Amino acid sequence: YQSSIAFPKNFFWAASTAAYQFEGAHLEDGKTLSIVDKNINPNYANTSVTSDHYHRFEEDVALMKELGIKAYRFSISWPRVLPNGRGEVNQKGIDFYKKLINELRANDIEPLATIYHFDLPACLQEEYGGWSSRKIIDDFAYFCKVLFKYLGGQVKYWFTINEQSNMFLLPYLMEFNKELPLEKQKYEMNHIMTLAHAKAIQLCREMVPDAQIGPAIGLSPNYPETCRPEDIQAAREADDFRTYLFTDLYMYGRYRDNVWRYMEENGITPTIQEGDMELLQSAKPDLLGINYYQSRVVKYASETMGNKDMTINVHGKKGETEFEVVPGIYQGSSNPYLEKTDWDWEIDSIGLRTLLNDLNDRYQIPIIITENGIGGVDKLTDDEKVHDQYRIDYLKMHLEQCRLAIGDGIQLIGYCPWSFMDLLSTTSGFRKRYGFVYVNRTDNDLKELRRIKKDSYYWYQEVIRSEICDQ
Ligand code: BG6
Repeated sequence: YQSSIAFPKNFFWAASTAAYQFEGAHLEDGKTLSIVDKNINPNYANTSVTSDHYHRFEEDVALMKELGIKAYRFSISWPRVLPNGRGEVNQKGIDFYKKLINELRANDIEPLATIYHFDLPACLQEEYGGWSSRKIIDDFAYFCKVLFKYLGGQVKYWFTINEQSNMFLLPYLMEFNKELPLEKQKYEMNHIMTLAHAKAIQLCREMVPDAQIGPAIGLSPNYPETCRPEDIQAAREADDFRTYLFTDLYMYGRYRDNVWRYMEENGITPTIQEGDMELLQSAKPDLLGINYYQSRVVKYASETMGNKDMTINVHGKKGETEFEVVPGIYQGSSNPYLEKTDWDWEIDSIGLRTLLNDLNDRYQIPIIITENGIGGVDKLTDDEKVHDQYRIDYLKMHLEQCRLAIGDGIQLIGYCPWSFMDLLSTTSGFRKRYGFVYVNRTDNDLKELRRIKKDSYYWYQEVIRSEICDQ
């Protein structure tokens, strides 16, 4: 790092995890199952133990402290706190998060809490279809109230919903009614989810007025495949459908005209009730959390291309990636200029700077990278080392683009690589690892779940140390 552009003082050098991927104890101390616990890909490890953080959080926080991180992003499991989705609070669930947060604070690590990271209580899915029903808005608001009441004194940074934009793409994370057209359901659920997000912001402002709150959005900038004007337009519209649809709703409380027209033409507009748009407009976030893994290439798609009701496999394994198609508008394609990970995710650090600039041009709001990282197969050597140079390379180039983005004027307040420690990959179990710390287990063999620092751990420790010393 030789650049003259400095990371801001008080920058959140951080790392990220999520409850169902990290905690384990999926039926312990009163917790009930979430939809992810039930639906996770059966070919891989399930959510029952994962990294066993629930039982080892003190050891894990000690590793965070040694790593030198200043903040830690984690999510709170709804069915651990409210086993029935609503009603009686599970004291043991709340106690777990209180203990974790106290441990973080005792080690000078700022807690960054995600309220919803995919794990809807399964009972609410069974009772009324989860996010397809407006009933969930009150239940989500109740969950938020419980969190703000019990944890708001200690937690000053909140993320409402993780990757609202991606949730519709993976069948584990969202259950659809097979009888109804998929696209219609997606936009309906998206509307309901945005209302729930807005409600969470309102409640946070009332109950924890000194906190900051915003969404954590999974985003990729869209590049045109060629300079053919149709492809340029396709890329612009892909941004509208896959980025600005969500960010404009969050920031301005409005639907983009072209996306709304598309929905009207296809008979898939969500039901807007009186007061909905006012609620959305009243809940402008304080900050945006951005999960960034890769960019995308798109080209023009004719009306006859593709199937409107296709759930795409964005997380496909090598050679299995299916590209999204929005007939008449765009279809995805691959980028010949970029290297790919072992899971075919395209590695594009410059895309992060592009995305940050695009967002800043529109919204001028503080941004925190809530996720960024590379999943791969890590090997433990006989002398107990993990040489994950590929991860160091990936993170180093993305951090360098963050630095340049700061030079561009972006208000970047933190960087939370995914993930602090190895955890259950949503799509690929323990074969695909992301952490700075290796967890000694496989999908089928729990071994002793020992924590082993990877080469990337020592690298990140040095980055944080030297960045802070230079200030
Ligand atoms: C993000 C999610 O989409 O990507 C995380 O917020 C997830 O929960 C991460 O783990 C990486 O995806 P995967 O499928 O490789 O685990």
